[in-house]
Amino acid sequence: MDIDNYLGGKNGSGVYQAIINLLPPHDTYIEGFLGTGAVMKRKAPALRNIGLDLNKACIDGFGYAAAELYQCCAFQFLRTFDYESNGRTVLYLAKFAQRAENVKLAL
Ligand SMILES: C[S@@+](CC[C@H](N)C(=O)[O-])C[C@H]1O[C@@H](n2cnc3c(N)ncnc32)[C@H](O)[C@@H]1O
Repeated sequence: MDIDNYLGGKNGSGVYQAIINLLPPHDTYIEGFLGTGAVMKRKAPALRNIGLDLNKACIDGFGYAAAELYQCCAFQFLRTFDYESNGRTVLYLAKFAQRAENVKLAL
């Protein structure tokens, strides 16, 4: 699979921008199904920028210095995350949203 251009990827023109515009102000940003991290790489960095993926290749190849990356199950991570100590936290958990008009479902 071409990981930058798969159906449902947010790298397509305008898709990631529409999503970024919907994100409320935040201190901590968590992208739960990181993949290529199309949104994290393009938005302004938060104080903490956390990327989660089960796939080691996504973690190892990410290449974004501001990010804390964990190869783990997003659901397990989010269940035990310390929300109280991390300020305003935004979770971006889009896994298979395929069109820009679906972005509200993805947040
Ligand atoms: C479609 S891709 C990434 C989509 C990406 N968030 C975007 O906006 O373009 C889905 C990713 O979710 C990861 N994944 C699937 N289940 C997961 C889980 N339970 N925890 C963390 N990552 C998971 C897969 O390894 C894959 O890299």
